[in-house]
Amino acid sequence: MNKDLVRDFNEQINQEFYSAYLYLKISAYYMEKGLSGFASWFLAQAREEEGHGVKLLSYLVSSGRKAGFGEIAAPAIEFDSLEAPLQATLEHEIAVTARINNLYDFAFTYKDFQTADFLTWFVREQREELETASGLVQKMKLYGTDGQGLYQLDRELAQRK
Ligand code: FEO
Repeated sequence: MNKDLVRDFNEQINQEFYSAYLYLKISAYYMEKGLSGFASWFLAQAREEEGHGVKLLSYLVSSGRKAGFGEIAAPAIEFDSLEAPLQATLEHEIAVTARINNLYDFAFTYKDFQTADFLTWFVREQREELETASGLVQKMKLYGTDGQGLYQLDRELAQRK
């Protein structure tokens, strides 16, 4: 694997764990607000992000490259409304999608087709992540602005395993 690609791969691993950290912060925020369904949904999302990081890490190491293990940044964002974390999630996933696309593109630049093939899973996953994140923003706008709607949405989000 090309060394610039290894650097960017390591960066992406770090970003996946940052995503987990961000979603843990959002989970804690909703816990504080008494919305346990939202909190557990974001806890599950944080675990999913750790899984993404581990998947990338495993590929890197199995390709004979060294994993970097840089510091994971603290999420600096604060939330001033119940909708704000959902909007932040959507914006974050848009940024992650751009990173994954760049990584995918980079793999082709270096004619590393095995890595490009591996990254296809992430390209597809990001499509799902974007759909889910924008769906949450939309649902909150439609249902979450009154007590009954918010209660229903919280119950719905609690169903996620
Ligand atoms: Fe690892 Fe939310 O994408």
